[in-house]
Amino acid sequence: MATYLVCFVILFSFVNSLKYDPTWESLDARPLPGWYDEAKFGVFVNWGIYSVPAFSSEWFWWQWKGQPMRAVVDYMQKNYRPDFTYADFAAMFTTEFYDPEEWAEMFQDSGAKYVVLSSKHHEGYTMWPSKYSFNWNSNATGPKRDLVGELAAAVRAKTQMKFGLYHSMFEWFNPVYLNDKDSGFKKQDFVRTKTMPELYELVNAYQPEVIWSDGDWEANDTYWNSTNFLAWLYNESPVKDTIVANDRWGHGCPCKHGGFFSCTDRYNPGKLQKHKWENAMTIDKFSWGFRRNARIEDFLTIEQLLSQLISTVSCGGNLLMSVGPTKYGTISPLYQERLRQMGQWLRVNGDGIYGTRPWVHQNDTVVKNVWYTMKKGATETDVYAILLEWPDNNLVKLGAPITSSDTTVNMLGYPDKVTWTTGAGGKGINIQIPPLSVKTMPCKWAWTFKMTGLQN
Ligand SMILES: *[C@@H]1O[C@H](CO)[C@@H](O)[C@H](O)[C@H]1NC(C)=O
Ligand SMILES: *[C@@H]1O[C@H](CO)[C@@H](O)[C@H](O)[C@H]1NC(C)=O
Ligand SMILES: *[C@@H]1O[C@H](CO)[C@@H](O)[C@H](O)[C@H]1NC(C)=O
Ligand SMILES: *[C@@H]1O[C@H](CO)[C@@H](O)[C@H](O)[C@H]1NC(C)=O
Repeated sequence: MATYLVCFVILFSFVNSLKYDPTWESLDARPLPGWYDEAKFGVFVNWGIYSVPAFSSEWFWWQWKGQPMRAVVDYMQKNYRPDFTYADFAAMFTTEFYDPEEWAEMFQDSGAKYVVLSSKHHEGYTMWPSKYSFNWNSNATGPKRDLVGELAAAVRAKTQMKFGLYHSMFEWFNPVYLNDKDSGFKKQDFVRTKTMPELYELVNAYQPEVIWSDGDWEANDTYWNSTNFLAWLYNESPVKDTIVANDRWGHGCPCKHGGFFSCTDRYNPGKLQKHKWENAMTIDKFSWGFRRNARIEDFLTIEQLLSQLISTVSCGGNLLMSVGPTKYGTISPLYQERLRQMGQWLRVNGDGIYGTRPWVHQNDTVVKNVWYTMKKGATETDVYAILLEWPDNNLVKLGAPITSSDTTVNMLGYPDKVTWTTGAGGKGINIQIPPLSVKTMPCKWAWTFKMTGLQN
């Protein structure tokens, strides 16, 4: 008993004294909280004042006044009075149909295990009543609501998903930021009075489990004070044990420092990565925010989205899929359909996605568009082959698996065993898919074969 107690006390004080220093060496050594790698799929919500013009992209203000784009300048000239300012859009950000519980349930129904909401984009408008964004926040102008707080509450009340927040460090036109920039980032007034106070406020008020930082690239992490913030986040914050952060913490950081690597937008390297990573991408090929003038062919099909999810997970990544809500607070039916389709597919095939690990092969050695994942149990290992294309003659000849006399094959969503033979020369496996009708087809778009008893 005494020994046990002593051990316990030593162990406890050891765990308690694990503190991260504000250096990359220390912060990068923190193990990523386990929930994130299990989750595999999240929904990204890109919503802000740019959802009012809903034209071109969420970079609208910049494309109008920063580095003008002809289409945006023309659009403003044709449709708005000459003295109209970007700030005038805020009054039109009405969000009257915003029903955060409906959103939360819709996102959960997509099979997502986490949701990341944009709390502030480069325009600087905060989607919560920030003390540090006078008159440029969702409580003071526009919706007169706490858009962040309402979704946080709904996600927690109605779903099992984790709630996360996107936050832009810089702001295109903030005079305090521009003044720091003019000083060659020797001054840190913007970081001291805006970026950092906002980040602490967000974490303390909403306790997000993802901090998805962005807008960092013009200055280095010393200017942003990033390592001091992360040390607080990991040591002392109310979410210190569960929080995951990305890698956009200053020029030179992405793909190098931080929590999971988000690297560049739509990052999908197609091969196994050493460090946990995320593919943040969009359903609309051209925009993270809603576009009123989008055409149907601008959106990824469900087959294309599944190809992103499956290849990403096979190579050790998570997929964060972006939807852009409207200024009314609605999610357009096209986005809704893609979310529902992801959910439909994941309900049949999720066993080969959630909680899996990369296998020795990521894609097949012979057949194109076949990706692998695996799950190691106490006694057996399940290997999943996910096909993005239906094979000719219902026969798929995979090159990578090495069979044994114990090998079994199942098709997810199909009740019976599937027959197989070892491939030519004792290599690979030939799977004879049972003849399926529209009624017995477990799911269209992509198909998962679960193999046990392989030698590799
Ligand atoms: C939100 O705005 C209302 C009305 O202007 C105000 O009474 C309230 O204090 C504000 N809430 C916060 C958290 O700032
Ligand atoms: C980071 O930027 C600051 C200016 O804000 C500069 O003084 C410093 O040398 C830079 N550090 C590195 C490692 O480049
Ligand atoms: C950077 O963080 C440290 C530790 O929290 C703090 O003492 C310092 O004032 C911060 N500097 C700026 C510019 O925010
Ligand atoms: C598997 O992926 C690798 C790396 O992306 C690629 O070079 C190779 O062609 C793929 N194999 C097949 C059979 O498509």
